Amino acid sequence: MRIYEVGPRDGLQNESAPISIDAKLRFIDLLADAGLREIEATSFVSPRAIPQLADADELMARLERRPGVRYPVLVPNERGLERAEAAAVDALCVFTAASEEFTAHNINMSIAASIDAFRPVVSTARERGWWSRGYVSTAFGCPYQGRVDEGAVVDVALRLLELGVDEVSIGDTIGVAGPADVRRVVGALLGAGIGADRLAMHFHDTRGTALANVTTALDLGIRCFDASTGGTGGCPYAPGAAGNLATEDLVYLLEREGLSHGVDLDRLLVAARHVSGTLGRPLGTKVGQAGGWRLP
Ligand code: HMG
Ligand code: MG
Repeated sequence: MRIYEVGPRDGLQNESAPISIDAKLRFIDLLADAGLREIEATSFVSPRAIPQLADADELMARLERRPGVRYPVLVPNERGLERAEAAAVDALCVFTAASEEFTAHNINMSIAASIDAFRPVVSTARERGWWSRGYVSTAFGCPYQGRVDEGAVVDVALRLLELGVDEVSIGDTIGVAGPADVRRVVGALLGAGIGADRLAMHFHDTRGTALANVTTALDLGIRCFDASTGGTGGCPYAPGAAGNLATEDLVYLLEREGLSHGVDLDRLLVAARHVSGTLGRPLGTKVGQAGGWRLP
């Protein structure tokens, strides 16, 4: 199992109150202490689009990277790539969507233009031997367009894989999917010949269906899930997108399923409490509220 932590990026990007770089760095360190090996650290996007992550250059300069831990960053264009290179990153994510309207709001491009913008980014990443991922947002529903057809998701996923990304992450950006939708969309992706090992699922828990969706995706062979410690998150360009699936809730479920994932739940809760303290909000996640108790 791979648990791909998005808390420092997706979790914080929508917060309007300033968060210090020290608090962000401490969060990332606590996540690594808990055993997470993939921690999406920040975004090299326009500071006007995402003011909360405008400190990405300094954050990456100060981050003490641990061997064996991957710290991917979001990169939307060549300007972002330059910043990523200056920050000596070795893992990046490009991001587009399965619906035109969300893509226009989020990155001010059409889907086709976004693929063109990513081509040099992914090609440079490959030349440098970096790991890369492509996001397909609004894979189930779009806040502007409504229901999204699985054919559109497959089409964008294939185009990203053709660019050369190592994997695609399929995003339920506004948390509208249920298990039947997961069977429909993941079934179409697998049916198009995309291996389960090239797919990650990115669920937001807006309507409380994220864990049910994980269970469904597990049954379909998916082994990588994105999650955010403390359950924070959302995209400013996706009205109504509440928090991501909480990493602590995911870890608990995987433990009960007997699936190994390398994360220590008690240590993870330290990171979750750190983020809730930083944001000045009580920890709202299920396992966060229940504490460390669990079935032996
Ligand atoms: P634009 O305005 O069309 O681009 O934005 P532009 O090229 O005209 O640039 C506008 C200004 O931004 C210029 O500055 C550029 O220099 C600057 P000005 O001359 O006006 O002062 N700029 C940059 N600055 C720093 N780094 C850069 C960069 N690029 C341009 N890389 C753009 C287009 C893509 C840049 C913008 O729309 C953007 O940055 N969008 C990012 C939005 C974002 O990060 N959204 C959240 C992540 S996606 C998500 O959360 C979903 C996900 O979690 C999965 C899921 O849940 O589904 C991944
Ligand atoms: Mg997201």
